[in-house]
Amino acid sequence: MLADPSSKERSEEMKALAREEFDSWAGSYDRSLLHVFLFRPSYRVLTEEIARWYQEHNRPMRVLDIGCGTGELASILTRETWPIQVVGLDYSPAMCVEANRKTHGSGAPSRAGFVAADSEFLPFAPQSFDIVTCSNSFHHYPNQADVVRKIHHLLKPGGRFILIDGFRDNVVGWVTFDVVIARVEKNVHHAPWPQIDGFFREAGFANIRRRKFNFWMPLCATIGDVGE
Ligand SMILES: C[S@@+](CC[C@H](N)C(=O)[O-])C[C@H]1O[C@@H](n2cnc3c(N)ncnc32)[C@H](O)[C@@H]1O
Repeated sequence: MLADPSSKERSEEMKALAREEFDSWAGSYDRSLLHVFLFRPSYRVLTEEIARWYQEHNRPMRVLDIGCGTGELASILTRETWPIQVVGLDYSPAMCVEANRKTHGSGAPSRAGFVAADSEFLPFAPQSFDIVTCSNSFHHYPNQADVVRKIHHLLKPGGRFILIDGFRDNVVGWVTFDVVIARVEKNVHHAPWPQIDGFFREAGFANIRRRKFNFWMPLCATIGDVGE
């Protein structure tokens, strides 16, 4: 159960739990069954949406992936022939080590880099990115509205934010995310979609839309644009 959402103590506890969970999971994360059921479908949808943005804008892309985990999305995107640079950011230092190992392991120059940081304190200048992605990570953030506002500041005109997280607004999603996953991960918050829509509106995003996918473990991509 969530305590007062503004409480600093709760906020710190939520982040400490997430860091502990993912520091210890980093080495085996890519072999988890959840990869098949949750993470891979998310990378597929993110890649499709990024391809759509590229078709629409036809300019080089600088992408920030928040809560990047082991850098799998960066690794997929930088294998494409698009003009793309990816920065992955994660609160778990162990995840960043894995991501670096995966993308720089061969010694070949990579178009991806990783930084260990908190989604609430994004160490980048305003308007630094064309696209920001965040998949299966947002439910760990104690101050979700604030993170969405900060992401809006980081995007260039014409930029896009693609957020994917568990869709808990139908029975299957409620059982999966609010009952089972919340019990396992503890102190997480899968926001109902109207609340996410509100975060996007309040931050200034336009053309907000959603794309539901993955019937048995339902996920939802919420997509918002920054005006040109
Ligand atoms: C389930 S993994 C998702 C990884 C990847 N995006 C994917 O879809 O497979 C969640 C990630 O969010 C990160 N995370 C949790 N809280 C965070 C925060 N406050 N700031 C940045 N990353 C955070 C965790 O360390 C973890 O690597």
